[in-house]
Amino acid sequence: MKPLSALSVWLAAATVPLASASVDIDWTSETSIKAGAKTIAYGLMKYYTGNNTGDVAGNLPDPYYWWEAGALFGTMVDYWAYTGDESYVNETFTALQHQVGDDNDFMPANQTKDEGNDDQGFWALAAMAAAETNFLNPNDTAAGGVQWLALVQAVFNEYATRWDTADCGGGLRWQIWSFNTGYTYKNSIANGCFFNLGARLARYTGNSTYAAWANTIYDWMDDVGFIDDEYNVFDGAGFGTGTTTGTGNCTEIDQTQWTYNAGIWLHGAAAMYNITNGTEQDKWKTRVDGLLARTQTYFFNDSVLYEPACEPESACTTDSLSFKAYLVRWLAGTAQLATHTWDTISALLAASAEHAALQCDGTATEADGYKGLSGTACGQKWVDGATWDGTNGVGQQMAALSAVFYSQVMAWAPSLYADDDGGTSTGDASAGLPKTDASLTTLAAITTGDKAGAVFLTMATIGGLLAGCAFMVKD
Ligand SMILES: *[C@@H]1O[C@H](CO)[C@@H](O)[C@H](O)[C@H]1NC(C)=O
Ligand SMILES: *[C@@H]1O[C@H](CO)[C@@H](O)[C@H](O)[C@H]1NC(C)=O
Ligand SMILES: *[C@@H]1O[C@H](CO)[C@@H](O)[C@H](O)[C@H]1NC(C)=O
Ligand SMILES: *[C@@H]1O[C@H](CO)[C@@H](O)[C@H](O)[C@H]1NC(C)=O
Ligand SMILES: *[C@@H]1O[C@H](CO)[C@@H](O)[C@H](O)[C@H]1NC(C)=O
Ligand SMILES: *[C@@H]1O[C@H](CO)[C@@H](O)[C@H](O)[C@H]1NC(C)=O
Ligand SMILES: *[C@@H]1O[C@H](CO)[C@@H](O)[C@H](O)[C@H]1NC(C)=O
Ligand SMILES: *[C@@H]1O[C@H](CO)[C@@H](O)[C@H](O)[C@H]1NC(C)=O
Ligand SMILES: *[C@@H]1O[C@H](CO)[C@@H](O)[C@H](O)[C@H]1NC(C)=O
Repeated sequence: MKPLSALSVWLAAATVPLASASVDIDWTSETSIKAGAKTIAYGLMKYYTGNNTGDVAGNLPDPYYWWEAGALFGTMVDYWAYTGDESYVNETFTALQHQVGDDNDFMPANQTKDEGNDDQGFWALAAMAAAETNFLNPNDTAAGGVQWLALVQAVFNEYATRWDTADCGGGLRWQIWSFNTGYTYKNSIANGCFFNLGARLARYTGNSTYAAWANTIYDWMDDVGFIDDEYNVFDGAGFGTGTTTGTGNCTEIDQTQWTYNAGIWLHGAAAMYNITNGTEQDKWKTRVDGLLARTQTYFFNDSVLYEPACEPESACTTDSLSFKAYLVRWLAGTAQLATHTWDTISALLAASAEHAALQCDGTATEADGYKGLSGTACGQKWVDGATWDGTNGVGQQMAALSAVFYSQVMAWAPSLYADDDGGTSTGDASAGLPKTDASLTTLAAITTGDKAGAVFLTMATIGGLLAGCAFMVKD
């Protein structure tokens, strides 16, 4: 482990006064890029309260939902792996382990009732990154904990039990529990988590069962039309009658396209491409190249990433403000696993990183919820360049941080470990415990927090439908 630099000690000190600063990166200097990333990361982690006395490790404060905390700690795993900055390793470790739940599957009792397949997935994606990068192994800590690989396998195995062939020819539902809105909706992000984790488990473990699942899941996406012949990745569709999310057999597809949906499928396809050969590899190369080409034309403006479904109208939600973070993460991962894509991806990441950093001179204050260094709050609209768009938040800060450090993937990223290639995480192929609605009766009664979560689900669904309408009107 590298020693902490004087700067990192200073930044990590809780009592640091708010000095005037800005994120001014010299892109020819590794030192400068790392310093810029560190300043943005500091502002990002100041949003996190789970490390405060009396707060719950792993949770972000309102208005951020539990899944976004999982996404945040996945980002912080990679931030450490890319930059070597150990400032947040302990907090990240503690957060991830605190949320594993009684069955070691990222279904902690406090969250379970509201939890969707995608929510669980973002925590598992963080654990997958931890396994692939040899992040702090629980066995090497005094506190101990659950092995990263086993956590991912638990989530994967539970997904497999939830695969539903009764409607739409297959697929995971968005939600896990029948009483949550979205139980009659199948979508690209929930199935994308299953696919992406399956492909990466196949690469890490060499177990062909995971690869077989990845094939099944992708083929279903293709059949149902959530990924179309032009490699558009649509949001999803409802099924059954009397639902608020569409009727029929997943035929009324919400055609909204989100950055993270494109990214999670692209990256999973790249992992499959990486571990196959011959005609199988040709098949995955066609998909990687198709998804990348569509991503490039749909989500970039002059090589700068944006969120077409909501960003131009300044209508993104707390959730969707963070989505670009995951597309840059998965573009970088794609370049690692399908190296021929680097020529295309490097230009997109470089332009996006430069523009994202320019958005990080925002003067948001503590009254706006920003506790980072003054003048380093990141806005959302990278396309607009140097003029801070006046917004701040976890999503904006995490997306900008991601743009900056993932752009250095080929220079900084550690090699991806595997079971037989230096990986220290140990697995448990039979981890996980399938659950049904009935298993919930053992959980505590619904609390105010749970109700707020249920309202969110409804809002998210309505928001999704509105976004879908906006898309159709615009087109
Ligand atoms: C993380 O925790 C370990 C063990 O408690 C400690 O030695 C180390 O200094 C901590 N690192 C940071 C950056 O706080
Ligand atoms: C938060 O985490 C850091 C890094 O692990 C640690 O040094 C610090 O003591 C923690 N703060 C509190 C209030 O627990
Ligand atoms: C569950 O939530 C309660 C109330 O916020 C909190 O006290 C407790 O620590 C949480 N449990 C876990 C395991 O996070
Ligand atoms: C970590 O500990 C578990 C439980 O004791 C053990 O099964 C596993 O082999 C250990 N893994 C490593 C990498 O030491
Ligand atoms: C439902 O959709 C799936 C996927 O498109 C298809 O395979 C299946 O035949 C359809 N079932 C009915 C009853 O239309
Ligand atoms: C091609 O892949 C298969 C299975 O993935 C493997 O068994 C075989 O050895 C590979 N062949 C070559 C030439 O790499
Ligand atoms: C690209 O960004 C510019 C500058 O904000 C804007 O004028 C233009 O309409 C955008 N193009 C697209 C296709 O969104
Ligand atoms: C597969 O991934 C490894 C690790 O990132 C990389 O070195 C290798 O070049 C990749 N293979 C292909 C065909 O891109
Ligand atoms: C491969 O993965 C499957 C699915 O989880 C599991 O049932 C099987 O035991 C695994 N095989 C090995 C050799 O670990």
